[in-house]
Amino acid sequence: MTRIVITGATGAIGAALAQHYAVPGNHLTLHGRREAVLDDVASQCRERGADVTLSCVDLTDDVSLHAWLDTLCEPSPPDLVIVNAGMNINIGEFGEGEAWDDASRLLEINLRVPMAMGNQLGKRMRATGHGQLVFMSSLAAYHGLALTPSYSASKAGVKAYAEGLRGWLAPSGVGVTVVMPGYVSSKMCHDMPGPKPFLWQPARAARRIAAGAARNRARVSFPFPLDFGCWWLAVLPAAVSQRLLAWLDYAPPAATRDASSPRQERPHD
Ligand SMILES: NC(=O)c1ccc[n+]([C@@H]2O[C@H](COP(=O)([O-])OP(=O)(O)OC[C@H]3O[C@@H](n4cnc5c(N)ncnc54)[C@H](OP(=O)(O)O)[C@@H]3O)[C@@H](O)[C@H]2O)c1
Repeated sequence: MTRIVITGATGAIGAALAQHYAVPGNHLTLHGRREAVLDDVASQCRERGADVTLSCVDLTDDVSLHAWLDTLCEPSPPDLVIVNAGMNINIGEFGEGEAWDDASRLLEINLRVPMAMGNQLGKRMRATGHGQLVFMSSLAAYHGLALTPSYSASKAGVKAYAEGLRGWLAPSGVGVTVVMPGYVSSKMCHDMPGPKPFLWQPARAARRIAAGAARNRARVSFPFPLDFGCWWLAVLPAAVSQRLLAWLDYAPPAATRDASSPRQERPHD
């Protein structure tokens, strides 16, 4: 029996991944916070012939997370773990900036939790010389976006962490894949400001992610035109990338400032 763990299984991509892997012979452990939605996803997966276990453990609580991961590693670590749960915030309609409480919560689930999971599962998988870890980054990891600075930072962090983990775990036969999606239809995606070119449906994204994970690809990034464009943002001088992003409408609304507090204008470098 192949054992697969998916966090964020109540979300669009996580549920699509669960359905993709829901075949006889697979045991799915699905994690989500919204029990009713999770039950729904589980029923669909069971109908397709998979065995399903559910978890609503608080991923952001170290003690609960470590205990849960220990359970998952009995009698041996899972074959595949997809660290998918995540959130997004933005600078607001008028570009007023992110609330720090929100940014802090975002860093917790988008970066600290994936690192905690990679840290613990990586060691357990390394000891048995078997397993595949998949981390959800984003094309926003190539170059920070003005509308979503904390999200961009968290996804750049996940990308770098997973790349490092891949190098560490490769000699022991454990695989690590970084997934960098463009726009995939989901609540998170549609709540985000800015244009959403080349939007994919979650089922298509799930197929691409699963194919990449099965081949232990270092990076699974899509869709091609957007991936290629975003990759250039990392390669070009940062000043050029910033201008390109503004030109493509990924810029904050024009700043409004109090006329009574004049500030020195600085040239953009
Ligand atoms: N959709 C895109 O365009 C896109 C692009 C690039 C990367 N991604 C990444 O893909 C992943 C899945 O996103 P999605 O598009 O499927 O979004 P989604 O539909 O909004 O799903 C997000 C999932 O993350 C879970 N989650 C959020 N905060 C959590 C927390 N504190 N603790 C536990 N679970 C939490 C949610 O659980 P609840 O249901 O309980 O809230 C939900 O299952 C995310 O990591 C996202 O950053 C998405």
